[in-house]
Amino acid sequence: MPGSPESPAARIAALRAEIARHNALYYDHAAPEISDREFDALLRELQDLEAAHPGLADGASPTRTVGGRPLGEFAPAAHMAPMQSLDNTYSPDELREFVARVRKLAEGRAIHFTVEPKVDGVAISLLYENGRLARAATRGDGTTGDDVTQNIRTISNIPHALRGPHPGLVEVRGEIYLPKSTFAELNARRDEEGLPAFANPRNAAAGSLKQLDPAITASRRLAGIFYGTGAWEGTEPPATGRGVFAALEAWGLPVSEKILEGSDADSVVAAVEKLGELRHGFAYDTDGAVVKLDSMALRREFGSTAKAPRWAIAYKYEPERAETRLLGITVQVGRTGTLTPVAELEPVFVSGSTVSRATLHNEEEIQRKDIRIGDLVVVEKAGEVIPAIVEAKKALRTGSEQPFHMPAACPSCGGPVHKEGVAWKCSSPGCPAQLRRRIGHFASKNAMDIEGLGEALVGQLASAGLLKKIPDIYSLEKNALLGLERMGEKSASNLLAAVDASRSRPLWRLLNGLGIPHIGTASARDLASHFHTLDALASAPVEALLAIHSIGDVMAEAIHAWFQNPANSSLLAALRSSGLNFGERDEPSAPADTRLAGTTWVLTGTLSVPRESAADTIRRLGGKVVGSVSKKTTHLLAGEEAGSKLEKARELGIPVLSESDFRALCA
Ligand code: IVH
Repeated sequence: MPGSPESPAARIAALRAEIARHNALYYDHAAPEISDREFDALLRELQDLEAAHPGLADGASPTRTVGGRPLGEFAPAAHMAPMQSLDNTYSPDELREFVARVRKLAEGRAIHFTVEPKVDGVAISLLYENGRLARAATRGDGTTGDDVTQNIRTISNIPHALRGPHPGLVEVRGEIYLPKSTFAELNARRDEEGLPAFANPRNAAAGSLKQLDPAITASRRLAGIFYGTGAWEGTEPPATGRGVFAALEAWGLPVSEKILEGSDADSVVAAVEKLGELRHGFAYDTDGAVVKLDSMALRREFGSTAKAPRWAIAYKYEPERAETRLLGITVQVGRTGTLTPVAELEPVFVSGSTVSRATLHNEEEIQRKDIRIGDLVVVEKAGEVIPAIVEAKKALRTGSEQPFHMPAACPSCGGPVHKEGVAWKCSSPGCPAQLRRRIGHFASKNAMDIEGLGEALVGQLASAGLLKKIPDIYSLEKNALLGLERMGEKSASNLLAAVDASRSRPLWRLLNGLGIPHIGTASARDLASHFHTLDALASAPVEALLAIHSIGDVMAEAIHAWFQNPANSSLLAALRSSGLNFGERDEPSAPADTRLAGTTWVLTGTLSVPRESAADTIRRLGGKVVGSVSKKTTHLLAGEEAGSKLEKARELGIPVLSESDFRALCA
């Protein structure tokens, strides 16, 4: 503690050990225990003590090294140019001080800055030799990282070859991230498998990249984004940071869609604040902004301290937090029986929305944080996407707070429970809550997409005895529906029409809806496009499943086992006799309407419908959807606030369609 009677030497030693432990948790285990802010406070205390006691300096101190050591299981990969870290600032005043320091170093010469998102991912260096991806390495200690080339090759938006003119050798620097949109899906899957949820997309990306089995990495749908270069040989590097961005984009590497600029303290602070608003709309999580001096000549001249360049700085946004009362803890039963404790909160506004519930993950998490019912708790939008409870305000307890215990029986069916890993699970396969969840999942947007058949109606139908298992959906009758509360003639007809329409959904939707362990939207699509029919998939041996790039050992075994289970065979038989498409109808390789055959689309900006749904429309009409604009792109669909992709498309003369043009084309 800062004011404790400990000697400086003892405190320095304690801080170094503590910081090394947190570095290992963050870099090696992707499981940090403290926030970046708390970490920086420890680091600053150590820096101050070392400055006050130069005799106690040590070259191996965490104040003089970057991050974690290389991990070990991967081959070491030495960087050609070191991978540096950045100093952090937390207030506009600190940012102004940075601009003032740079201005002083510039001695009257003009200065200009770029302001870009600080992507909260895992730092990566890609080595391209003669334009081909030769190696990919994590940062490690800044000098040597882990060789993760095989894993990086599975990431679809990272080119294996650079486009156009490029230097003979270049190290490209950026971040690997898990798109916010897939994070919730990954955690839901882990939850069902009894695995601990990832706290945020960054940890999920780090955990996914450090898989020794590239198939697992592939199944996680990671993405890359790039912002700089290290070694550069064979041609003259650009004279500005903006020139580097233009080069990266021209080579086909994804870069941030919003790079703002500033030339003095006011405009830099304004740009940082602007990014603070825009960042919620990015596909990746951001934890700050990075301000960089644009001129490469000045960057070289100003150089670096032991740890970070003098020409760049990070600004960390406040994680958005709020305090509220924990009114109770309910226990939810998932579709595979996992019991998840959920915090019921007094509604509170955080990061743009009202939060009244937050997952508590599992019993151990509640005990570790010593959270009790009735506590005043701190809620944070962790990684901007899911609300989490950070801590309980223990000092404000009145004594009436109640500790929580997991129920000894399933809260839905009263049946026995058992433990798998950290998760408690209901042991009865016939548990009504599990059945409702399975039916709800089957009907959901990313599965059979039966409009109107949400969790609430599934519950109502189940209570009325009309829905006991998935195939019952297809024998619902109008008269029975009309007997339900709040169900009129029109809603009943609409529901039956939606049920009927779902019979001809593409195979991947059925595969996703069946709830086969480990299968999500992405792997369901891969399986459907590889096997074409459900029968071919059902009879596929494990080796045939392994032939698919994104399917690893664990997934292959699970899929195979699912189809061997007699209960699942009878489920499939019932669905087949209800007239569902088992793939045979997808077979004629030309889709009925091929208006967009031969076209390749890029979607950008904010659309009024989810991007995936616009992409579905394009695919249904025979078109292809890709992530980045290239010469092969034939159409760009641009929504609101479209950025660099739009510019690029215009440069390449690619037709740009607004959403209403697009609707007209597809109507
Ligand atoms: S520039 C020498 N730009 O944040 C400058 N870094 O906390 C090196 N990061 O080590 C980094 N977004 O891993 C830069 N737009 C961005 C960034 C960024 C995220 C990471 C990077 C860096 C760390 C520092």
